[in-house]
Amino acid sequence: MKLTLERPQLISLAAGFTDNATVPAEEVNRITREILRRPKTAQSALQYGTTIGLPQLRRELLGRWQQQDRYVRQRSPVTSDHIVVTNGSQQLLYLVTEVLCDPGDIVLVEDPTYFVYLGIVQAMGLRPFGFDSVAALESKLEHLKRQRLLPRLKLLYLITYFQNPTGRTWSLEDKREAMAVVRRYERAAGHPIYIVEDAAYRDMRLEGKDVPSFKMLDPRNERVVYANTLTKPFATGIKIGYGILPAALMRAVLNSKGNHDFGSSNFLQAILARALATGVYERHLAAVAAAYRLKRDAMIQALDRFLSTSIRYHQPRGGLYIWLELDAGTRTGASSKLFRRALDAGVLYVPGEMCFCNDPTRPIPRNCIRLSFGAPGPKQIRQGIKLLADSI
Ligand SMILES: Cc1ncc(COP(=O)(O)O)c(C=O)c1O
Repeated sequence: MKLTLERPQLISLAAGFTDNATVPAEEVNRITREILRRPKTAQSALQYGTTIGLPQLRRELLGRWQQQDRYVRQRSPVTSDHIVVTNGSQQLLYLVTEVLCDPGDIVLVEDPTYFVYLGIVQAMGLRPFGFDSVAALESKLEHLKRQRLLPRLKLLYLITYFQNPTGRTWSLEDKREAMAVVRRYERAAGHPIYIVEDAAYRDMRLEGKDVPSFKMLDPRNERVVYANTLTKPFATGIKIGYGILPAALMRAVLNSKGNHDFGSSNFLQAILARALATGVYERHLAAVAAAYRLKRDAMIQALDRFLSTSIRYHQPRGGLYIWLELDAGTRTGASSKLFRRALDAGVLYVPGEMCFCNDPTRPIPRNCIRLSFGAPGPKQIRQGIKLLADSI
């Protein structure tokens, strides 16, 4: 991100920036003026709020999740009191991991996964293991059981919609199966094993149908932390995310959040509460999807035209990313010839090796690339892929 901001002429297919042309400037301007015009709303928005977050926003978020998951329960165990608003979902992921894990504990992550989460894992001295299918999850759990390591396993971190970096979405069948497998191994672990579901790209669907969340498969609200964000789909500069948490985790997470900042910006929360309540958010999603569809298609066409013989990729149906697998012998890392050549040519990508955890049971693949079609326009995307193809 730093390099992209410092060298504006660089075509960045790397950082997860969003589309500049569709930022909701007019909408945010109007909502802001509405909030500030009346003393009552102005005074409340410009004061400190509570650690858990603005009640109106939490109610809107609950309603949105219930609608997406068609979650209708009488006396639902999930209420807006189980929602905590955070500074982006990044903070939620940090808080939950901090609350659940001690140094030396084990977490299971997807292979590959969101590399910034791996930073949290490393900073907290945790031991990560990776898996790339439900079958592989089961063998990893079996391995941990045989090594008597299951009691150290605390959570699975899963990005379930248009995954960063692969663009893949978990099917409902896979979610059901994974949930059942984890439950089976809980007995041997001797404590709950939590599923931290990161749904950061759920609202960035370009086509196809939505899939119910893991949270929906947790009817008693005991095991699934649902992390989501309003940054990517609405405005990354409005750095607000949230979590829907099992009741047993609320107090510890709020205590920790209290120590960090005792509450996210009340002003930003007030803007988002209104954007959700008035339909501005939902309308914005439709507008940005049209823009991203064009850019995703431009990237796919350029990949097919310039790189079809030397890569494999999966066409994402949402999100911001395309994951490339190059020939096994081609190294893509930050100190590789290819990375430097691409940078000299004026194009930046994320080396795939950054997205694999240090799992001692397998080598890290070195031949992958994560591309993002978030920030650049279609023309830049075509140019960028051509430069990348020449570099390869
Ligand atoms: C998978 C995933 N989760 C969480 C985040 C954090 O986003 P934010 O803190 O802006 O909500 C990102 C950002 O790139 C992401 O890709």
